Amino acid sequence: MLQRPRRNRYSDSIRNLVQENFVSVNDLIYPLFLVQGEEIKQEIHSLPGNFRWSLDLLLTEIESCVQLGLHAFILFPAIPENLKDKTATYSYHEDNFYLKAISTIKNKFPQITLISDVAMDPYNSDGHDGLVENGQILNDATLPILGKMAVAQAKAGIDIVGPSDMMDGRVAYIRQCLDAEGFTNVGILSYSAKYASAFYGPFRDALDSAPKSGDKKSYQMNPANAKEAILEANLDATEGADFLMVKPALHYLDIILLLKQNQKLPIVAYHVSGECAMLSAACANGWLNFNTAMPETLLSIKRAGADIIITYFAKAFAEMLLKK
Ligand code: PBG
Repeated sequence: MLQRPRRNRYSDSIRNLVQENFVSVNDLIYPLFLVQGEEIKQEIHSLPGNFRWSLDLLLTEIESCVQLGLHAFILFPAIPENLKDKTATYSYHEDNFYLKAISTIKNKFPQITLISDVAMDPYNSDGHDGLVENGQILNDATLPILGKMAVAQAKAGIDIVGPSDMMDGRVAYIRQCLDAEGFTNVGILSYSAKYASAFYGPFRDALDSAPKSGDKKSYQMNPANAKEAILEANLDATEGADFLMVKPALHYLDIILLLKQNQKLPIVAYHVSGECAMLSAACANGWLNFNTAMPETLLSIKRAGADIIITYFAKAFAEMLLKK
């Protein structure tokens, strides 16, 4: 035999020399859930190890993440039912606790990258990402609301806005609104290929943001489609996005690879709540080993072509690296 691939697997040292892909804390974005109030740290039962935080405790949590080397966070608000309405007015209201939290966090940790969520669903009494009229999700009428939300977040000091709504034309619309207000340095992380997936359950539990009626299939993509992801990514790139996202990640590794090959912008993979919950549940039952299965999972997302991973395991991964 002239070729014996096992020779390059002979020792740890050789294996390290030929390793093609790596995950580092630099690649990771950690999602955090914010609630109104003080001294609140509620575990999300379907997402063990993740919590709804009030701002006071969230600041301490971010501090401990920063100590571990994490430097990028995406923040989602759980909005009390009485502040929700059909047009999501609270999303850009000056008293909004999410906007105040953005300012406080960025003042305390100017060095981190803070990413927002731009979508109506946390604020919308219908639980949809857009304006609902006669059971339809309106596209163009939703854009000005998303624009106001993005500008309010930029005024609060956000680094990057994250439109997760899947309305057509929203990246260009938001870019125009931000630039008109002088926020040319605020980036856009666009949820480009966001699928109508069954794996968002724990996230909707965390925010109580599930649609009150119907589903999201008229705006999120059909899990059966791949070419359409290229169409969406092309549009977002030409509309001025700075990052393109594929969501979910694990069940869509082919889409990550496809966009990696078709696009120039950094590809972000969202390892979503249901995908993390599956692994946590198997580990809690002793069916899988968290310390080996979790890093292998993140590595597979990198290998597929993701430059950046949003994962609920970011902190656990950073802690694991430290112990090595
Ligand atoms: C909604 C939004 C969702 C997630 C991020 N932003 C859920 C949805 O579309 O219903 C899901 C993230 C996850 O499951 O981890 N704008």
